[in-house]
Amino acid sequence: MSTTILGIESSCDDTSAAVISDGLLRSNVIASQKVHEQFGGVVPELASRAHQQNILPVVSEALRQAGISGSDLDAIAFTRGPGLLGSLLVGTSFAKGMAIGLDIPTVDVNHLHGHVLSHFIKESEEQKIPEFPFICLLISGGNSQIILVRSPFDMEILGSTIDDAAGEAFDKCAKVMGLPYPGGPYIDRLAAEGDPEAFKFAKPHIQGLDYSFSGLKTSFLYTIRDNMKIDPDFVENRKADLAASLQKTIIEILIDKLSKAVRQTGVKAVAIGGGVSANSGVRAAIQDFCDRRGLKAWIPKRSFTTDNAAMVAMAGYFKYLKGDFCRLDMPPYSKVEV
Ligand code: KG4
Repeated sequence: MSTTILGIESSCDDTSAAVISDGLLRSNVIASQKVHEQFGGVVPELASRAHQQNILPVVSEALRQAGISGSDLDAIAFTRGPGLLGSLLVGTSFAKGMAIGLDIPTVDVNHLHGHVLSHFIKESEEQKIPEFPFICLLISGGNSQIILVRSPFDMEILGSTIDDAAGEAFDKCAKVMGLPYPGGPYIDRLAAEGDPEAFKFAKPHIQGLDYSFSGLKTSFLYTIRDNMKIDPDFVENRKADLAASLQKTIIEILIDKLSKAVRQTGVKAVAIGGGVSANSGVRAAIQDFCDRRGLKAWIPKRSFTTDNAAMVAMAGYFKYLKGDFCRLDMPPYSKVEV
């Protein structure tokens, strides 16, 4: 008998539902919210309203695509945090209500664990999955962490950002260039046509394995300000070079600490996760970093890099097997470490 889990993700601005049976993905439906684009960032109140509209059709579609009905489910896993409280409340309440109706348990998932465990989602029986331990570089709009993963339940944060996250560095610099939100994917595309050596930006000097991206952001801003005094069309004329140089610097900052973490722990594999792991330059650099050192690189499919319920169902599956269920009175939480 297989174990079938419905996953629900609603931590930020994507409503997603997915079905996983014994680690094998059967459906993964995501409804993105376009309403935030005009505001240059996610508006929490609009996000929770959109989740309310989306959640029922998204869950129905995930069950339909998986070819099952609610009565085939063993449990419902949902993101309990971290994230926007209003958004999390929608997924949390829906998951609990549906589970009460079906008389099955709920499993609460830490969104960050979901990103790390997304590497265990199988789309075919033959697909390989990581062996423990490995290091996961978790890079998203809200986090930049180096995590030593010893098991699905034993994750140690070795380093994290002391200010901006890698995704914020992409997004804030993109904003200065007048690019739409979120700017990371635009920088990625522009960087492919630019010269990564064109500009030099400041890099942090932080002890240990923690990251910092605020200095880079300031130095990017000053470069633009100083050059615009000479050429008012500087950003327009040099946008590809700016993007390529920015992306290269972010990658160098990421790899510098990652390399220290690999030396300190002696792990043989490195995984990446979170929205920024969709970046072409980051993916190529991590692969190259691992190839040079004889390490195994786990680069997620792009559809599993951003927020998705498949990773929530996967993380929920591990907890379900352990019998670690969520009580109905457990509320969502906005902030937490791994
Ligand atoms: O994990 P995620 O979907 O959610 C948050 O933590 O918010 O990550 C979103 C972040 C944004 O900062 C976005 O700009 C960045 O991931 N991102 C990228 C790319 N795709 C998404 N950054 C650089 N290059 C990309 N291709």
